[in-house]
Parts: sequence; structure tokens; C-alpha cells
Amino acid sequence: MIAQITLFPDQASTLAPEVDSLYSFIIGITVAISTATAIVLIYFTIKYRRRSEMPAQPIEGSLALEIIWSVIPLGIVIVMFVWSSRLYFRIIVPPEDAIDVYVVGRQWMWKCQHFGGQQEINELHVPVNQPVRLKLTSEDVIHDFYVPDFRVKQDAVPGRYSTLWFEATKPGRFRLYCAEYCGKDHAQMAGWVIAQDPRDHERWLSQRADRSLALRGRQLFLRFQCVSCHSADARARAPILEGIYRQPVRLQDGSSVIADDDYLRESILNPRAKIVAGYDPIMPTFQGQMSEEELLQLIAFIRALKPGETPSRNEAAEPPPAAPKTDDKGRTP
Ligand code: CUA
Repeated sequence: MIAQITLFPDQASTLAPEVDSLYSFIIGITVAISTATAIVLIYFTIKYRRRSEMPAQPIEGSLALEIIWSVIPLGIVIVMFVWSSRLYFRIIVPPEDAIDVYVVGRQWMWKCQHFGGQQEINELHVPVNQPVRLKLTSEDVIHDFYVPDFRVKQDAVPGRYSTLWFEATKPGRFRLYCAEYCGKDHAQMAGWVIAQDPRDHERWLSQRADRSLALRGRQLFLRFQCVSCHSADARARAPILEGIYRQPVRLQDGSSVIADDDYLRESILNPRAKIVAGYDPIMPTFQGQMSEEELLQLIAFIRALKPGETPSRNEAAEPPPAAPKTDDKGRTP
């Protein structure tokens, strides 16, 4: 029983050993200094205890001592600072070749969507030895995506996208938790990250390939009538969206923004926040009409939209696809 209790979780990502070394260093220093302080304290308490034959001596101070106990701790905290900052930047900047997975938290489940359209609940399948970048958001309150074995943790905040990346180093099942108290069933909001051999992962993806996120987004683009204004023809009353992803967009007020996920999301939900130069603020808001997943699908569509690919205005929209059925715990029956 005792043997099953481990001090540290498994090290299953490239970040885990780095986080652990820094953590051990800080704990080591802390233990060493507190032990030394305690030993000196006890020794002096005994050595200089009050005795009648020894009158108290005034102390004038010692410059050498003061310099030593200022410079050494300064050196130690500078090492901690430099080490932690470097690690922090490594943790927050995803590698260029990372693959994207979209994760939506809600009371009380994690819903993950892969780029090929594969969806899963409270499970996330990823390949090993491949950086994975998660785009997190929430449908209701703040949740927090936490995989102890990977040493990664990131809030999922309603109304914005946050990013977390990791690279699993060995296949296996690793616990996924919500680490932000989010209501009655917060403790149930857990699942598994399943790291797979790349070939197994490919197989897993292809068995579930449905329609890609971008393809679902294309249907939404037609269904929500976006195409009637964002058409790529002479009658367009709104900016053409082809090839705009991650490109600068000039605004009415003279400033410019990069058309990233957050900008696209804001432009769908609150179109008047940033008006593109040369257009009238005529777009209605889609706040409350689209789920977080649909927003992600629409953004994936715009992201993939190349010149000449805007659907034609009279292409018929498919009826909305049936949402995967889940019970209130998020399980697929
Ligand atoms: Cu979600 Cu706690």
C-alpha cells in the first residue's frame, strides 16, 4: 500500500524533468537554509543562555558578515530567477511544429476537437514525441486544464482562448483534471490524456475521421448566411475572408490588428468592436447563437480559406448535423 504512494507523479512529457529539476533545486536550497538556521539557532540558544556570571556584551556589528549574508542569497535568488524565467518562456511558447487541438470546458466535462473533426469527451488522444498545442476556452465558468504527469496547467476562461502545449514522451494513460473549483461536480470533471504511438494515433484518427473542422465550419458559414455579405464577388458588403488568417487587418480608426483566433472570435460575437477600414458596421452579432464548438469550426474554416474558395452565394446549406448525444455527465451512451 505504502509502495503505491509516490512522492511525484510520473514524468511523461518533455517539460516534466525540467520542472522537477527546478522544483528540487528550490526545495533543496530552502531545506538547506532552514536546517542551517535551525542548527545555529539551537546552538546559540544553548551557548549564550543567560548565566549570572556573564554580563551582556553590546555588539557593534560586522561588515564582512553582512556582506556575506547579503551577496550569497542574492546570487541564489538570481539563479532561481534566471532558471525559472527560461523555463517559463519554454512552457508558454509552443514550438512551431505543434499540432492543434481545440478544448472546450463546461460544467462538467472537457470536450476536445481535433483538426480532422474527431471529437471526444473527457478523453484526449495525442501522439507521443509530437508537440501538441491546445486552444482552450470555456462555455460557462473558469475551468483549468491540468495534467500532473505532464506538469502542465492552464485556465480555460469563458470569452477568450488560452494556449497550453506539451509533448508526451511515452505512451500511456495520464490523468486529466479540472484544477479550478467550478461548481457542484467540479470533482467529477476529470478524464484521461491518452498518449499513443504515432502510428496507433494515425489509426485512431482515421477510424473517427468524420468531417474536418473546416468542413463543418463551411456548413456554418452557409447556414448562418455569412456568405451573403462575405461573398467574394462584386456585391460583397463585408471584407473577403480568403487568406486573412494571421494577416494584419487595417481598421477604421487607422490602427491595425492581426486576424488571429481571438480577433475572429470577437468579430463574430461583437462585430462592432473593431470595424475594418472601408466597411459599414452592418454585421449583426452572433452572440448566443453559436456554441463554442461551432465558433471554433467557423474559425477553422476561415483559417483554411484560400483565395477562390469562398462558397458561392446560392449554394444550399445542409441542415445542421445532429450533435453527438451525451447524457448530463458527458458520456456517450
Ligand atoms: Cu471545471 Cu473544476
